[in-house]
Amino acid sequence: MEVIELTTQFVKQQLNNVESGHDWFHIERVWKNALLISKAEKGNKLIIELAALLHDIADYKFNNGDELIGSRMTENFLESIKVERSIINEVVFIVKHISYKGGNTKKIEKTIEFNIVQDADRLDAIGAIGIARTFNFGGYKGNEIHNPRQQPKIGQSKEEYKKSAGTTINHFYEKLLLLQDLMNTDTGKKLAKSRHDYMIGFLQQFHNEWNGLK
Ligand code: ADP
Ligand code: NI
Repeated sequence: MEVIELTTQFVKQQLNNVESGHDWFHIERVWKNALLISKAEKGNKLIIELAALLHDIADYKFNNGDELIGSRMTENFLESIKVERSIINEVVFIVKHISYKGGNTKKIEKTIEFNIVQDADRLDAIGAIGIARTFNFGGYKGNEIHNPRQQPKIGQSKEEYKKSAGTTINHFYEKLLLLQDLMNTDTGKKLAKSRHDYMIGFLQQFHNEWNGLK
């Protein structure tokens, strides 16, 4: 079997039973988005595909806060199927650094492949899919949908972001609405625009209905 097929199989099996916003279908969408962006932005296709497939293989959010578990599993898996060392290093780098965690992480030297896969992951966090995933995650955590007494906390540190048990609506202001301006590639920025605008429309309608205006 070839490398992509083996990886697909491994990821599907690992992500059996995870929260639906981080399941195989999320990975499949990110994989497709990454390939779409790479048509215009280039980059090494194998690195992009492997990183897209493995980027959420084990998330710290579901593994007692262990931030390195995903990159460790990625390295072990790629070694086991005998992928070339230089490719492994690039993929592990992406998996290690892709996550948002408040956005305030230290500066890293980004590669084109990193930029593409991060944009592809961020696209799946916004728009209609982003809305669905966010409410699913909030429900999974037992968070409130909305609480007008709780203000969004913009610019949280990584530690604050990870601890926060805020409302799902606040997650839009604390993270999702910021992603459009954080897109790395021009293609990613273009694709983000309509998804961003869709969320703005949703929030407007949500607040109108909350306040009995419509
Ligand atoms: P992180 O931002 O932790 O690196 P991910 O990119 O894995 O996270 O987050 C993916 C998606 O999970 C988010 O776009 C959102 O839909 C959901 N999510 C993460 N944290 C929260 C939260 N506190 N409230 C609601 N949804 C969340
Ligand atoms: Ni992801």
